[in-house]
Amino acid sequence: MERSRLFPTILFLFTIILSINSINCTENDNDLVTDQAALFVFGDSLFDAGNNNYINTTTRSNFFPYGQTFFKFPTGRVSDGRLITDFIAEKAWLPLIPPNLQPGNSNSQLTYGLNFASAGAGALVETFPGTVIDLGTQLNSFKNVERSLRSALGDAEAKKILSRAVYMFSIGSNDLFFPLVANSSLFQSNTKERFVDFVIGNTTSVLEEVYKMGGRKFGFLNMGAYECAPPSLLLDPANIGSCSKPVAELINLHNKRFPDALNQLQRKLSGFRYALHDYHTSLLDRINNPSKYGFKVGQMGCCGSGPFRGINTCGGRMGQSYELCENVNDYLFFDSSHLTEKAHQQVAELVWSGPPNVTGPYNLKALFELN
Ligand SMILES: *[C@@H]1O[C@H](CO)[C@@H](O)[C@H](O)[C@H]1NC(C)=O
Ligand SMILES: *[C@@H]1O[C@H](CO)[C@@H](O)[C@H](O)[C@H]1NC(C)=O
Ligand SMILES: *[C@@H]1O[C@H](CO)[C@@H](O)[C@H](O)[C@H]1NC(C)=O
Ligand SMILES: *[C@@H]1O[C@H](CO)[C@@H](O)[C@H](O)[C@H]1NC(C)=O
Ligand SMILES: *[C@@H]1O[C@H](CO)[C@@H](O)[C@H](O)[C@H]1NC(C)=O
Repeated sequence: MERSRLFPTILFLFTIILSINSINCTENDNDLVTDQAALFVFGDSLFDAGNNNYINTTTRSNFFPYGQTFFKFPTGRVSDGRLITDFIAEKAWLPLIPPNLQPGNSNSQLTYGLNFASAGAGALVETFPGTVIDLGTQLNSFKNVERSLRSALGDAEAKKILSRAVYMFSIGSNDLFFPLVANSSLFQSNTKERFVDFVIGNTTSVLEEVYKMGGRKFGFLNMGAYECAPPSLLLDPANIGSCSKPVAELINLHNKRFPDALNQLQRKLSGFRYALHDYHTSLLDRINNPSKYGFKVGQMGCCGSGPFRGINTCGGRMGQSYELCENVNDYLFFDSSHLTEKAHQQVAELVWSGPPNVTGPYNLKALFELN
């Protein structure tokens, strides 16, 4: 019973209405600026900059105290501030990449990139159906953008922008959590291996479609250590506080099989290049050793209720009361299952310039610089 309230959160994401900084590219010698590669973002709450604000869903975080640290207003991002992708955009000399559904995105914005991610989304259409923008639908929106680019700039110029661009994905954790909180016949009628292969297969199908439209550079995080996130610590009433074995099992399966799938794509698709960050390791190390990274608290959320603030009531979600910590900088987790801006910044550093055993075979910096 409790479970159904715990997990849907893990899956959220956000939005922002920010004016786009205009960058004057004409007189700059910096390669990243003159040869500016765009950033297109797909996925779930880890990357949603606010698309869910524009769909009919309760899977939203566009209320206090979300967004208070950096933006000073709730943008829809499921954090107190910026997301990993916001920091990546900054490092790539790009403006913040706005949600695709935010009204008023101009053609010049399209050339910097767009964000299609949706909190709660999975690679499978069966995951939180009707309340999220699943990955296939995100791809369809990207296809519309590709058409707009072609009609605005011509086929050759559009293709140049799309092949120079970097495509970041955070997808799959909602697919793995959904069967734990709802009846999933797909999950029940298949082995766990086969189910995970459906998730990965539907992800790689989308990657191949992006490749067909010109995409060459892809960035991924593997599944974070959500088996030890606050809601997971509550899953087994007999073992409150210990990491969840059923969650770990699915996450480990995905993390074992996904690198092979990317490797195969690289062999099959000429010019396909990718970065895969070992988020599982970077998150687990922060949960277990918060002080090593400047946090006081690793296991408990800043905002939420119940033990470890593992119940996702942050901001009064579903009309419930919640606790809010005093100093968000002391915390790794902002709400029950999403990190603070401070943590996102640290992970973004690793994604951007981490060595090959942390982010490889390329890191994001290398992908952006690649011509
Ligand atoms: C860009 O720089 C050029 C040369 O310095 C200047 O003439 C132009 O007004 C600038 N454009 C913008 C939008 O700042
Ligand atoms: C939004 O979704 C709810 C619940 O599914 C439904 O009752 C309502 O009619 C929907 N509203 C609109 C405007 O579609
Ligand atoms: C799953 O289905 C069973 C049997 O139909 C039902 O008792 C149970 O409440 C359902 N669980 C969820 C999470 O919907
Ligand atoms: C995608 O997921 C569906 C279930 O939604 C499954 O039937 C299909 O086989 C999957 N596709 C791939 C390529 O794995
Ligand atoms: C990566 O390699 C470096 C040295 O080569 C090592 O110090 C570091 O611990 C490794 N990191 C991980 C996450 O394995």
